[in-house]
Amino acid sequence: MSSVEYITHKGILFPQWDFSSESLNRLENEFQVLDDDVFNVTFPKSGTNWMSEILGLISQNGDPTWTHSTLVWERSPWIETNGGLQTALKNPPPRFLTTHVPIQLFPKSFLQTKAKVIYTLRNPKDVLVSSYHFCMIFKTLKDPGSLEEYLEKFLSGNVICGSWFDHVKGWMGLKGSPNFFYITYEELQQDLRGCVEKICHFLGKKLSSQQIDSVVEYATFQKMKENKMSNYSLMPDHLMDHQKGKLMRKGISGDWKNHLTVAQNEHFDRVYRENMRGMNTTFPWD
Ligand code: A3P
Repeated sequence: MSSVEYITHKGILFPQWDFSSESLNRLENEFQVLDDDVFNVTFPKSGTNWMSEILGLISQNGDPTWTHSTLVWERSPWIETNGGLQTALKNPPPRFLTTHVPIQLFPKSFLQTKAKVIYTLRNPKDVLVSSYHFCMIFKTLKDPGSLEEYLEKFLSGNVICGSWFDHVKGWMGLKGSPNFFYITYEELQQDLRGCVEKICHFLGKKLSSQQIDSVVEYATFQKMKENKMSNYSLMPDHLMDHQKGKLMRKGISGDWKNHLTVAQNEHFDRVYRENMRGMNTTFPWD
């Protein structure tokens, strides 16, 4: 197995694969955001691909032809990677753009536009567990070691995209702005239809009841698991070890309970409380 290296850009870790300080600087300072861009922003493993599927289906009024015929990383490219940025520049507007970058690395031109940001968050304990497993199958990511070791790295922000706490505090600073909408993985699970309606409202998109039913149907875990354009089964072998696992792993909330010890959970809670002090938002997991 080839050795995996990370780069540090402005204090944040990124995989060396397809990332460079030059392209991250270009993204921040030169990328031209357009008024009708819709950004799908997440900390990795928070439901990024789920949101891409939902947005793709909403844009097509619930018709799955596009989401079933175009790869998710083509439909909704990750703009912080070199390849994703090239795809984004080629895609015709209105564009769906995905990013995991913390807010300080986001394109500055956003501020002069009416572009929209949807920020999806997930219980960080489930993010930890999901990313722990993903690190074992995605070849551009370092072997996570034991869960105990990975937990410490996660809590100290020594993982790709940096600290979950900083990411959330940074992006949630936009709360209240008319072009910012946030939602949680847990809400999507509890009431996918209600969430789709809220997302449509935010996007100014009017769908009939039947069209919303169709979005909900094709965005379920089972349907997405079967959609080879979204389930990463077409991710090249040099990037993903398909024998070791899948993107669509469990798709549940609370899997952390099957992995963290009582002591690890208490430690997590202490660090969480210290870091989230003063945050004026209550999340489903609080
Ligand atoms: P698990 O590893 O806990 O199963 P991301 O898209 O940000 O990389 O996040 C991947 C996580 O979202 C995985 O979590 C995956 O199973 C879950 N996921 C993707 N699509 C989903 C869906 N339609 N419903 C529920 N969970 C979904």
